[in-house]
Amino acid sequence: MRVVLGIESSCDETAAALVREDRVVLAQRIASQDDAHRPYGGVVPEIAARAHAERLAPLIEATLADAGMELSDVDAVAATAGPGLIGGVMVGLVTAKALAMASDKPLIAINHLEGHALSPRLADAGLQFPYLLLLVSGGHCQLLVVQGVGSYRRLGTTIDDALGEAFDKTAKILGLGFPGGPAVERLAATGDAKKVRLPRPLLGSDEPHFSFAGLKSAVLRAKESGLHADADIAASFQQAAVDCVIDRTRRAIVAAGEVSALVVAGGVAANSAIRAALQGLAAENGLPFVAPPLALCTDNAAMIGWAGIERLGQNDSLDFAARPRWPLDPEAAPVRGAGVKA
Ligand code: KG4
Ligand code: ZN
Repeated sequence: MRVVLGIESSCDETAAALVREDRVVLAQRIASQDDAHRPYGGVVPEIAARAHAERLAPLIEATLADAGMELSDVDAVAATAGPGLIGGVMVGLVTAKALAMASDKPLIAINHLEGHALSPRLADAGLQFPYLLLLVSGGHCQLLVVQGVGSYRRLGTTIDDALGEAFDKTAKILGLGFPGGPAVERLAATGDAKKVRLPRPLLGSDEPHFSFAGLKSAVLRAKESGLHADADIAASFQQAAVDCVIDRTRRAIVAAGEVSALVVAGGVAANSAIRAALQGLAAENGLPFVAPPLALCTDNAAMIGWAGIERLGQNDSLDFAARPRWPLDPEAAPVRGAGVKA
């Protein structure tokens, strides 16, 4: 059975994985850089690129050793080639090119977003195209119809902040540290979501998109007013986020047409309030709900290796250039707000 080495370095996780075509992850390692970025309250691109450069080669060696494999045993090398922080993407892609060349194996350049989009199929062999995907991470917030490998129809995206970014900024405002999503979720569990009135941008709108900038500003004002407990702000913020996600996804279910399931992927899919609400929405619409296990939701290399399995047969040029931007649906119209997160 064929095995792909997957490499991920587009943000602040340095990761390698060996994925077999029967959906077995033979080995995977992730080195998080949280400690390096924590003093700055966010990911610093230059620090990230340097950390990837230092860690990636030994990490790949260790991953191969974990599986008792040599580079010559793999059938292809798949690496994230964008979108993401360009320094880190280049480190991963150059490393993959060197390994592919040295071992005379195909290079498969993977769109990081496709890694997220296909990851539910690694966890669930029964998941058939087309499915409706809510992709919610620190850099992205999109609703897509996944029609097949390399075939995506974007129904909506954010016109300003990504949802994970809104969680991270809320964490910063509340002094909860980095990364913020899990900390906000923990604090929210101890607060009252009805205590602080916060806006739900674009709720009920005919527009297919998301917006979170206004919500984030309202969180800042609520904090600065000194009138509210932090836990109540966190709970009210999370409830507003849930309401927006559900409203936008409900609209997308109608727009998507026939789909096999409602699927969520990306780091914010780790949030249990959001998962539970999506599960309810799927049930309401008679759709199966699929959420990959948490370790597959946040950035990882198994999803890149799996995308490589889905793309076996492809052999990208060693000239393939790293892409800071790489939309999954090139035909989707740009959104107002300049499509920053498209
Ligand atoms: O997919 P991911 O690991 O990296 C990107 O490609 O962005 O997603 C990271 C994002 C961060 O914004 C983080 O705060 C958010 O996912 N996140 C969460 C939770 N766990 C991670 N947001 C809300 N609740 C969580 N439990
Ligand atoms: Zn990601």
